Amino acid sequence: MMGVPAETGPQLVAWSNDMVRMYMHAPTRAIEEQANRSAGDFAAFIRHHAEERRRKPGDDLLSVLTAAHESGEKLSEDELVSSAILLLNAGHEATVHQTGNAIRALLSLENPAALLAGDERAAATVEECLRYDAPLHMFTRYAYEEVELVPGISLQPGEQVALLLGAANNDPAAFDAPRGFNPSRQDQKNVSFGAGIHFCIGAPLARLEMQAALKVLFERLPSLKISEEPHYRDIYHFHGLERLVCRW
Ligand code: HEM
Repeated sequence: MMGVPAETGPQLVAWSNDMVRMYMHAPTRAIEEQANRSAGDFAAFIRHHAEERRRKPGDDLLSVLTAAHESGEKLSEDELVSSAILLLNAGHEATVHQTGNAIRALLSLENPAALLAGDERAAATVEECLRYDAPLHMFTRYAYEEVELVPGISLQPGEQVALLLGAANNDPAAFDAPRGFNPSRQDQKNVSFGAGIHFCIGAPLARLEMQAALKVLFERLPSLKISEEPHYRDIYHFHGLERLVCRW
């Protein structure tokens, strides 16, 4: 889709992993330096492929972004590179963790395959997985101007607010029995992809990927069971499992 060779996938994941380690609590100097090197290598890789696409455009996203850059003020070279990297690393990490969290949640239920039978059911089940155990819990925003959030709580310009998506998804004022996994709930309105102008650009892709992946998994391995108590990774930026050990 991006227009880079498929066999570079593992390298892109490695660069991406290095970069997102920067979001950890108290990263060390070594982590920062590695993130910097990987960001530089990733940027050089995209510049190289963007240059190739410029000479020989295809029907891929990098060609489209390059054309947008060439035809006017839309994207600068740096914006082209950072957009491509953002798409690639936002696409890798969140969906991987969400898929693991979803499989864990589904394996705690009676008959997961039944919840994925038919497109509508599968879509509703994936939405509930997103609400029940989201991979990204916190994003922050700065106030540009003074704003009164609720009576008595005001923000001053420059103050930062942390938006706890994971908590909003479990708000008893918004969801009936929020800790229950219920794909048929009528009050589905999770905020796992954020909201407003920064709403996740990859949401439709992530939803499709999860619907397809979970369906195939439970069709092929209907007797799948968890065989080791899973643990969440002790990291701050993604809410996902260390590993999920199963048997069938
Ligand atoms: C289950 C998987 C995913 C989850 C839970 C997720 C979640 C989110 C959230 C919460 C935001 C908003 C960030 C903010 O408010 O600052 C966001 C933004 C974004 N996501 Fe995703 N995402 C997922 C998959 C993807 C995929 C597959 C892609 C790319 C193909 C992607 C690309 C992006 C990009 C580029 C943004 C930034 C949008 C902007 O700032 O305007 N995401 N995502």
